[in-house]
Amino acid sequence: MDLLNLMQSHVSVRDFDKAPLDKNVKEKLVLAAHSASTSNFVQAVSIIDITDMNLRKKLAEISGSDAYVMNTGAFFVFVADLHRQAHILEQNGQSLAGVSSMESLTVSVVDTALAAQNMALEAEALGLGICYIGGIRNDIFEVANLLNLPDHTVPLFGLTIGKPLSKNAVKPRLPLANFYSENGYDEASFTDLRAYDEITEKYYGNRQTNEQITNWSEKNREFFAEIRRPQVAEFLKKQGFSLES
Ligand SMILES: Cc1cc2nc3c(=O)[nH]c(=O)nc-3n(C[C@H](O)[C@H](O)[C@H](O)COP(=O)(O)O)c2cc1C
Repeated sequence: MDLLNLMQSHVSVRDFDKAPLDKNVKEKLVLAAHSASTSNFVQAVSIIDITDMNLRKKLAEISGSDAYVMNTGAFFVFVADLHRQAHILEQNGQSLAGVSSMESLTVSVVDTALAAQNMALEAEALGLGICYIGGIRNDIFEVANLLNLPDHTVPLFGLTIGKPLSKNAVKPRLPLANFYSENGYDEASFTDLRAYDEITEKYYGNRQTNEQITNWSEKNREFFAEIRRPQVAEFLKKQGFSLES
């Protein structure tokens, strides 16, 4: 399949064959993640393959995604990781201010997302299904504890990958008029969500599972009505990030 067609047929999969992925398939997935672009070559990402099913169970429970974290081909945790840099600086007796900054945190989050999406695309190209699991941040302190994560690391999300048993329909994305502009932010066009709300109202009303009377604006109004996972900020501070400069 052409790469664009492959990407446009992406859906998150939540129903997998539970047979573990072959070693050579896993190797390809890890190598795909390994080759992503990385800001200033800092490679601020680590991947933890969760093969211990007792540990997996604890992560599955935290994430609230038990079925598709346990019954799947593989489950990886992606860690935004500046610990290697902190270690280098510490050994040299230098200040850690440079790795603790908001800019460095941003760099590590971006590097991690790029590596993960490389893995996700390789998986989909191999005919597998994927679902990101941000749910691990439901108890980010406990996840860090379970995985022995050191300072300047953040468990950002999991990625469950396996052979799909069933798939949802593709979710309609924002119209390009809400998403793409030339030479500056097109406030009027980007925030005019009327067409998309009609599209998503039909999508939510007609979908095969979990039908709802709602639309994208309504979903987002509800989603952002409260501060979600407020302990994440506290965790980032504990890990050594300044959250100020
Ligand atoms: C970083 C990230 C975290 C996510 N976390 C979860 C999760 O914890 N549980 C889940 O079922 N889906 C999760 N998803 C999947 C999204 O819900 C999904 O991508 C979105 O609804 C769009 O649907 P689609 O991927 O099928 O197009 C996550 C996606 C991303 C990118």
